[in-house]
Amino acid sequence: MKEFNEDRNCDCYDEEQFPMPRIGDKAPEFEANSTQGLVKFPEQYKGKWVIFFSHPADFTPVCTSEFMTFAAMEKKFKQANCELLGLSVDGLYSHIAWLRTIKEKIEYKGMKDMEVKFPLIDDISMNVAKRFGMIQPGESATSAVRAVFFIDPKGIIRAIIYYPLSLGRNFDEIYRALVGLQTADAFSVATPADWQPGDDVIVPPAGSCGTAKDRMAGKGADKCYDWFFCTRKIGKGEIEKKLFKKKK
Ligand code: BEZ
Repeated sequence: MKEFNEDRNCDCYDEEQFPMPRIGDKAPEFEANSTQGLVKFPEQYKGKWVIFFSHPADFTPVCTSEFMTFAAMEKKFKQANCELLGLSVDGLYSHIAWLRTIKEKIEYKGMKDMEVKFPLIDDISMNVAKRFGMIQPGESATSAVRAVFFIDPKGIIRAIIYYPLSLGRNFDEIYRALVGLQTADAFSVATPADWQPGDDVIVPPAGSCGTAKDRMAGKGADKCYDWFFCTRKIGKGEIEKKLFKKKK
């Protein structure tokens, strides 16, 4: 593991200048160059969810496997009104060369000819990465950790996941978390452990199982495990109808 953690204990990061972003905060605004031209965030993403994620370095194996997986799922995220936005502290020409190599040369787990169409930000100055708490010197002072920010259509950070350099992300979980957040907003519910679309959801407020009338109207609980823990059904089709864009 030494080679992954060689920057530990570096004191070159000013936490006062760059406080860690938190859930519920407005996402920092920025403009940056990317493989798809200038990115103005959040201006050009109004009305959309954004998954803003960082990776440690171009031309590295874990990151390559992640980019191929994300590129393969991009359409699915778009159908859920969500745009993908990547960042590393490499320069634009490195990004372009890496993405070209992925498309032209890499075949991995049945994925080949993978074109990364979403923007990959050039953040060689680390200005953007630092504002999003993507530089975590205990892990690496010279590259970003694997951060994932879920940012809603109003530009609010709704969830954050950080992974260390050596651990590739689970993209099914990232998609599940996105749809879980959207479902919670759209239906005023919460989602239980390991929830997947189609599973029962938790109905607020805790302690109220709803009246018989509510139940008839489909608003109340179908089942209560105790006074504080009630659930109701929302079918996968109902979620898809409410959340997802129609295929063109
Ligand atoms: C990788 O993506 O394989 C990687 C990047 C930085 C450090 C360790 C692994």
